[in-house]
Amino acid sequence: MAGYISDDTRKVTTHRLIEMKQRGEKIAMLTSYDYTMAQIVDGAGMDIILVGDSASNVMAGNVTTLPITLDQMIYHGKSVVRAVRRAMVVVDMPFGSYQGNELEGLASAIRIMKESHADALKMEGGEEIIGTVKRIIGSGIPVMGHLGLMPQSINKYGTYTVRAKDEAEADKLVRDAHLLEEAGCFGLVLEKIPASLATRVAAELTIPVIGIGAGNGVDGQVLVAQDMLGMNNGFRPRFLRRYADLHTIMTDAISTYVSDVKNLDFPNEKEQY
Ligand code: KIV
Repeated sequence: MAGYISDDTRKVTTHRLIEMKQRGEKIAMLTSYDYTMAQIVDGAGMDIILVGDSASNVMAGNVTTLPITLDQMIYHGKSVVRAVRRAMVVVDMPFGSYQGNELEGLASAIRIMKESHADALKMEGGEEIIGTVKRIIGSGIPVMGHLGLMPQSINKYGTYTVRAKDEAEADKLVRDAHLLEEAGCFGLVLEKIPASLATRVAAELTIPVIGIGAGNGVDGQVLVAQDMLGMNNGFRPRFLRRYADLHTIMTDAISTYVSDVKNLDFPNEKEQY
């Protein structure tokens, strides 16, 4: 059917993600921040592409996710959306764009959706932001929650170690997870918490729970693309599996190019006009 409404049945939707959980099919999620990477990630069959605020670290070299701005997240979101055909594109709401009050959060959410054309948003926090989460979902925007290690709160924690190891924090996390589901979130990311706790949350919720450093008892996994591709040699947390050593492959290729240029080997006769 030609017209203004997309008939692309391949696109992953919130509804399809819930069906995947129901039939026990695991959900694969990976970050992308730019067009070229997103094209590869989508073409490889990813279910969800996260335009994470980890772009602050990975793309801009900041120590934390805090400095990235709403405009920068919209820029990354737009670049990714242009490349993606099938995956659901979720954009992180950056620090400072939703914690102030509900209307400010709603205005930020609407800007990201209108300007990036993403499919959904992700927000860090539970009870503290539940009013804003409800407002945003109430306006028709799908929201994914994020609990456990919440990098936007790094200055409160003072460390990136495993969260919710003690009973009080674990109890709050379970309560927050239920609050987010009741508020209408279509999914939840759990970062760096004990596997047994993540397994319990995934079993209690009907929405998909995606883990990073949260074990394999959840409904899916998310990683940062540059980490799993081995582009960053210095970052090797226990939860990370490196599927390639792109740092070595890229360094070898680039240093060969440097010596080819210096040795007058590049370009050769066939590589010129
Ligand atoms: O920003 C990000 O990349 C994330 C993932 C680590 C879940 O939030």
